[in-house]
Amino acid sequence: MTSKFINSEPNQLSQEAIHGVSIDERRQQLKQWMQHCRIGTLKLFEEINYDTFCRQVHPAFSPAGWHLGHIAYTEALWLLERCAMLPPQFPEYRRLFVADGLPKAERVKLPTLEVIHDYLDTVRTQVFKYLETADLDQQERLWRWLLQHESQHSETITFVLQLQRWPSWSVGRELSTQNFSGDTRFTDKSASRESWQVGSLNAQPDFEMIQIPGGEFEQGNASIDALDNERLIHRRYLDTYWIDRYPVTCGQYRVFMEAGGYQNPNWWSASGWKWLQENPVNQPLYWADVPDWDNHPVCGVSWYEAEAYARFAGKRLPTEAEWEKATSWDATALYRRAYPWGEATPDVHLSNHDNTIRQTTPVDAYPAGQSAYGLYDTLGNVWEWTSCVFNGYEGFASYPYPGYSKVYFDGQHYVLRGGSWATRPWALRSSFRNWYHPGVRQILAGFRCARSAKE
Ligand code: AVJ
Ligand code: FE
Repeated sequence: MTSKFINSEPNQLSQEAIHGVSIDERRQQLKQWMQHCRIGTLKLFEEINYDTFCRQVHPAFSPAGWHLGHIAYTEALWLLERCAMLPPQFPEYRRLFVADGLPKAERVKLPTLEVIHDYLDTVRTQVFKYLETADLDQQERLWRWLLQHESQHSETITFVLQLQRWPSWSVGRELSTQNFSGDTRFTDKSASRESWQVGSLNAQPDFEMIQIPGGEFEQGNASIDALDNERLIHRRYLDTYWIDRYPVTCGQYRVFMEAGGYQNPNWWSASGWKWLQENPVNQPLYWADVPDWDNHPVCGVSWYEAEAYARFAGKRLPTEAEWEKATSWDATALYRRAYPWGEATPDVHLSNHDNTIRQTTPVDAYPAGQSAYGLYDTLGNVWEWTSCVFNGYEGFASYPYPGYSKVYFDGQHYVLRGGSWATRPWALRSSFRNWYHPGVRQILAGFRCARSAKE
């Protein structure tokens, strides 16, 4: 297995240790992941009517149903057309489902769920047939990219659908009395209410900051899963800094709101204040005013709101590097962990992700998911805004096409880290980088704060 697509990491076993695994086992593993991922994607559409399927809830996002067709289109394009060299599959769908095709507002006239379901199935059948003989040594990176592509669209579908249930979704008590148990969509992974409430019910977390001593760490990821924007691994020196142990909670954020934070330009940057005047809001988008939620992270804030809160608190947003070091660096072993807790693949006891609980959880609910430095909730629960504009690391090379990352290196997008309660396991890791315009609030995003040691 000497492929240029497989970057070995001498200092780190990849989560599934590619080396020493036979090609047939790799085929089998990919197939399982793709099936598992698809079950989760389709599960999102249970009890969704055609109207909901086609509705555009916000100009920045396509209708939920569009994402489903786009998943099938993308898989067919890369695997069936480009790799298997088959003729275009369902060419009549190209215009509708290609990424840079119709304006988002024109993506509302969709085939029915049943028809798109057939499209997905037809493509899948051929894809799995092709997988039996595909040259994985050359293509494994692409297959894994596609798995992450569906994973990411699956998360977008989740919040696009949540936005449609809004605001009834937010109505007070319904939230805290929601029944989380009995969700068996992931068989062995079904979460019970107890699994995340232990040690967190009404306990007031200690909102201390953690000191991260100055020194070098390794940023990035070069494993087979790493997306173009995560590469390459590079050493970085950071001065000593402080970072919050937990994401900012609703209880903390309420102090800002009650102090008139949304009315006071002192806390806002010039661009943030301008945004606020043009988009008058006075609470996070996914705000629920119930005491039970005081220990849940704030969710549904723009980068501007996050930045304003941080200034109010006498802090600032962490840089991407600060976030990543605090999440992944093991300073004792001088070792870059794939996940804050180590190398074990994510599960329900480590992090709130994969749409299992379907909402936020208290920030101290996952002690087993702590990073080496002791940060909680870095992966899962809510995405976390960082202070950094999205850019390529040194040596960046687009994969599989410039439209994946490179076109967003435009100075207009800020990086989010860590994943949310809706992030699929294939897109959940310490090095993963997400990006959005600073005014976007629909994504499942909160933040934590940092502070320089010398100030
Ligand atoms: C990285 C989540 C911003 O959804 O627009 C999906 C991921 N890129 N298809 C997006 C993506 C191409 C992207 N985000
Ligand atoms: Fe896409």
